[in-house]
Amino acid sequence: MPECLLELRGIYKSFGGVKALQDINLKVYPGEVLCLAGENGCGKSTMIKIISGFYTPDSGSIILNGTEYDHMELREAIKGGIQVVYQDFSIFPNLTVYENIAVNTMVVQRRKIVKKKEMKEIAKGALARIGADIPLGETVGNLSVANKQLVAIARAILNDSKIIIFDEPTSALTNKETKELFRVIRGLRESGIACIFVSHKLDEMLDICDRVSVISNGKNVIDGDMKDFDKKKLVYYMTGKEYNDRSLASDVEKTEPVLELDNLGLTGFFRNISFCVYPGEVLGITGLLGSGRTELAKAIYGLMPADSGQIKIKGKPVEIRSATQGLMHHIAYVPEDRLTEALFMEQSITRNIVIESMGDVSARGIFDTQKAHKSALDWVKQLRIKTDEPANKVSTLSGGNQQKVVLSKCLMTKPEILILNCPTVGVDIGSKMDISILIQDIAKQGVAVILISDDSNEILTNCRRFLMIKNGEIQNEYNSEEFTESSLYSELIR
Ligand SMILES: Nc1ncnc2c1ncn2[C@@H]1O[C@H](COP(=O)(O)OP(=O)(O)OP(=O)(O)O)[C@@H](O)[C@H]1O
Ligand SMILES: [Mg+2]
Repeated sequence: MPECLLELRGIYKSFGGVKALQDINLKVYPGEVLCLAGENGCGKSTMIKIISGFYTPDSGSIILNGTEYDHMELREAIKGGIQVVYQDFSIFPNLTVYENIAVNTMVVQRRKIVKKKEMKEIAKGALARIGADIPLGETVGNLSVANKQLVAIARAILNDSKIIIFDEPTSALTNKETKELFRVIRGLRESGIACIFVSHKLDEMLDICDRVSVISNGKNVIDGDMKDFDKKKLVYYMTGKEYNDRSLASDVEKTEPVLELDNLGLTGFFRNISFCVYPGEVLGITGLLGSGRTELAKAIYGLMPADSGQIKIKGKPVEIRSATQGLMHHIAYVPEDRLTEALFMEQSITRNIVIESMGDVSARGIFDTQKAHKSALDWVKQLRIKTDEPANKVSTLSGGNQQKVVLSKCLMTKPEILILNCPTVGVDIGSKMDISILIQDIAKQGVAVILISDDSNEILTNCRRFLMIKNGEIQNEYNSEEFTESSLYSELIR
């Protein structure tokens, strides 16, 4: 083994009463892709923030390029070659591609006069190094998520970086874009850069990573070469449970449909969409980012009303032109982007859960704190939301646990029609299995569920019948028994 670039030794970190990390050890070697694996809230992002100098550990040490530190300063971490590609990419949306890429270099050199031509050359070189073809003069705000990420990577490699950290980089990428990102990561590895990679998708972990370090509840579980792991073994170490890829879906009786779409259309997004959902059914809709899947979901819920066609609920034509009307028709919607669409980050977990069900937690029009607290605790238990205090702000939860808060909020409204738009993005595998069981339970109570997802495993686990949407049109209806995970994936990106 070559000398290690970075080592964490006996790191502890608490937030109030929450012991996020307890005696964590980690080694990172040059030219490897290291997977940090573990359930939501196990401490992966906290480790990353300690490595990059964002948090100070309570105790333990960090050895970077042979020097021992009790904590990293942000600037020291950057100087030592550590770069993080954050989920929001920390880019300047109103600046151009070349300005975004070259800006750090200019700042580091404390340059007062900045030459456009020079910046363009720097940016061009960086993009060429990762094999990305993005117009230099384009405003970054106009780029796709994938290209924004490439801009962030191009900027990262300019700082003589030795370790590039990716915290869930694929959550907002299509399958094709993920492949492209992996090509770039392999290139970084070739050039001796170490990458730390975090994802909840098992296929990705097995595909791109050389080594894995599994964390559970802030403690090391096992380290090893990825080639010695498979899905079953990974899941076992992460969750202590057996991996289950059996389908949970059951056939439903096609009685009167709860929801019926008749030639629904929204100019520019989707057209001629017709289908029914029956009580107790989990109907899948699979399609890639940009296929019209999200606009269709929003049209049913009333957030983006359709401009042609008809929606019927239990046989009766209805007008749904706002989310309030959607709610009145007992439709609940779990949006794709929880951060911007579903949560009040600075409010408590309790308040976020009960906000759409105030009637259930009020007595004679007065908010009953005790009742709200009790409801929230029930949901925390049922969905295994990792917190010891529902009065804490949602912003203190890990990403996957925030998603569970959104689910709780929607389920608490006791919907008759539940639309789930990619409900398990960023959710760990153990909770994903829990959520699948929960979806089936909800359906069994007679709710009509629409599950939108580009995760083949999720569709096949939950749905007997599913539709595929491409370019705003339904391609076909399928029976999931005729597919395997990989055949569905191929069909989707065809
Ligand atoms: N700023 C904070 N204040 C309070 N608690 C925090 C804070 N940051 C993290 N935590 C807690 O520390 C624990 C570890 O969180 P962390 O974000 O590191 O998890 P993670 O492994 O990245 O999870 P995910 O896969 O969901 O992103 C969690 O219990 C989380 O609630
Ligand atoms: Mg995280």
